[in-house]
Amino acid sequence: MAIRHLLQLEGMEPAAVQEILELAMRFKADVLTADRCKRHELAGRAIMNCFFEPSTRTKTSFELAGKYLGADVVNFQTRGSSLEKGETLEDTARTLEAMAIDVLVIRHQVSGIPERLAARVKVPVINAGDGFHEHPTQGLLDLLTVYEEWGHIAGLHLVIVGDILHSRVARSDLWGFLALGAHVTLVGPPQLLPRDWERPGLRVTASLKSALAEADVIQVLRIQKERQSLVGLPSWEEYRARWGITRDVLGSLREHTLIMHPGPQNRGVEIDSEVISGRTSKIAQQVTNGVAVRMAVLTWVLGGPYDR
Ligand code: NCD
Repeated sequence: MAIRHLLQLEGMEPAAVQEILELAMRFKADVLTADRCKRHELAGRAIMNCFFEPSTRTKTSFELAGKYLGADVVNFQTRGSSLEKGETLEDTARTLEAMAIDVLVIRHQVSGIPERLAARVKVPVINAGDGFHEHPTQGLLDLLTVYEEWGHIAGLHLVIVGDILHSRVARSDLWGFLALGAHVTLVGPPQLLPRDWERPGLRVTASLKSALAEADVIQVLRIQKERQSLVGLPSWEEYRARWGITRDVLGSLREHTLIMHPGPQNRGVEIDSEVISGRTSKIAQQVTNGVAVRMAVLTWVLGGPYDR
């Protein structure tokens, strides 16, 4: 049987996306509620977390997700490893594989690395974020967060605001929401918008006001200071004035419009503290759902049945 990887949401069957979301909801009800009951779907399995870039939410939630399902989870220390002695990433991956691990979770600053490794190892690979390419588990947890609130995705209007060009989150959200029938608008400074992404259901604009008029959900992206300099961009003050989701912007939204942010946030730049803690903010739920979705994805790549 072919190995199941999770490398991107682009091209993924809507039915597979639905299957993962349903599994995540069942795990959430069992494991992430007050009377936490650990499950055993992944007992005897070993998961290797390899993070070559900083991460708080994604790394710890993969770790918790594996542990809640009974797996052993190891965080590979990229610093101080043989990579520093010149070993190639492929050889390192094969070495880890030879220790009989069952899943490789990888975050890397270079787009395409998870896919390259997936072609070379015999275990499922999960992309935990690669360069500007994709962050599929983030896209899935965003879908779950909206689905829980609305009970459907089709027909909703998602607005993604910010540094679209440098954002793997924007790409995964875009593919995931389009696959399930939502409309998506990408908005941000013209120099941070993609040029050739026109397709049905997708709109690209620099005007925050026109984008927000129809928004059911707003995903606010972090300005990726480490991936760009200010060259060509307005100052942070101007960015905030034109594209920031401020308290004033919050006041102008339709009452039901949900606010999301994948984190980490630059408070006072792309989003105000009042918005983060506002009534329609789903930012904390996104974090909780990250654990639920990663439990589902780990189980899904291993092809494991839910009931055992
Ligand atoms: C995102 C990432 O690393 O891609 N964070 C996350 O996983 N929650 C978004 C970001 O860094 O801005």
